[in-house]
Amino acid sequence: MSQSNNAKRYMLLEDTYEAQTYAKRPVVIVRGKGALVWDTEGREYIDCVAGHGVGITGHCHPKVVEAIKNQAEKLITCSGILYNDVRAELVEKITKIVPKGLTRTFLSNSGAEAVECALKLARKYTGKKEIIAMTKGFHGRTLGALSATWEKKYREPFEPLIPGFTHVKFGDAGEVREAINEKTAAVLVEPVQGEAGVNPAPNGYLEELRDICDEKNVLLIFDEVQTGFGRTGEMFACMHWKVTPDIMAVAKGIAGGVPMGATIAREEIMGSLKESEHASTFGGNPLACAAANAAIDVIIEEKLPQRSRELGLRLKNKLETIRENSKIVKEVRGLGLMIGIDLRFRVKDYVLKSLEKGLLVLTSGLSTLRLLPPLVIEKEQIDKTADILAEVLET
Ligand SMILES: Cc1ncc(COP(=O)(O)O)c(C=O)c1O
Repeated sequence: MSQSNNAKRYMLLEDTYEAQTYAKRPVVIVRGKGALVWDTEGREYIDCVAGHGVGITGHCHPKVVEAIKNQAEKLITCSGILYNDVRAELVEKITKIVPKGLTRTFLSNSGAEAVECALKLARKYTGKKEIIAMTKGFHGRTLGALSATWEKKYREPFEPLIPGFTHVKFGDAGEVREAINEKTAAVLVEPVQGEAGVNPAPNGYLEELRDICDEKNVLLIFDEVQTGFGRTGEMFACMHWKVTPDIMAVAKGIAGGVPMGATIAREEIMGSLKESEHASTFGGNPLACAAANAAIDVIIEEKLPQRSRELGLRLKNKLETIRENSKIVKEVRGLGLMIGIDLRFRVKDYVLKSLEKGLLVLTSGLSTLRLLPPLVIEKEQIDKTADILAEVLET
């Protein structure tokens, strides 16, 4: 792809001065609106990366922008040791949209932090130390979240990790039952695994985990960092199966693109954390809270979970047709606008071909393309996404 000197300069600066931990695509994004972004050359892309699934309400949603602008002029920072108007509104709002029974929220700044808080809560409330997590599960890069993450290549360079984590086969409740012992504090699971190639929980699985955890007196933690806020076609993915966890970790799209994580738990579980046992300087930051209040209002007012369900189905049907005409596509999976396309080959070339045609896509592992577009994406943009993927994958 041709690049101006301006673009080349930005690429060189990041390549020279930024930690080299991301596999970068050769494009400099400078502007976004809804499901579209533009690069330095003014080229337009449909954004199915959306900040790694963050852009639930799309880029620069006017209501989110207005809330951030207003709050920036009023108050940007306010410690958790003081009360704050927008934070107060947000924690109430969260309680109204999460599964019933989850009544207390700890606000942080990322998905990994939300998971860390969930792990600390599980240990503190139960007095037990061990966590059962799932094969192919992903929970973040901090040491606790990484200990719960399955993928060897993320874990091994940083061992020894935190002891007491076991991984059992995702989708097999019997393995969870066998793995639970007197030291088990909690079972941690993503209702739809994201980084592992978009794997929805098989029907009946989460229900069975709930029953097992109740029977064995073990906490059930759902990591809804990627699946939350309408991504899968329900406000939270666990609502597809009507299963309520004891603790839920969320982040990504909660604040319209502004960094925020949250851990929401049952009253008595969150109550087990006493003063000073957990805290975050930036957690509950008013600027992020104002953005989150606006983003959640937009998700509700614009019925984004329903939109995700309908447009997700439309896109999946089109991708199925592509699969039928393609020697490259093996399987199409997903729920709502969280979609994985399993290929028979490595995905890298197809990511670059899509980019050249004006489509940004994610990967999951070596052979799965992942689509996490903003839920405000237009029907025409969904159709164009499918058209580009047909050009790239139908051979
Ligand atoms: C399911 C899940 N949990 C946790 C995380 C970690 O979130 P963050 O990158 O915000 O720390 C991610 C990130 O992709 C995720 O998909």
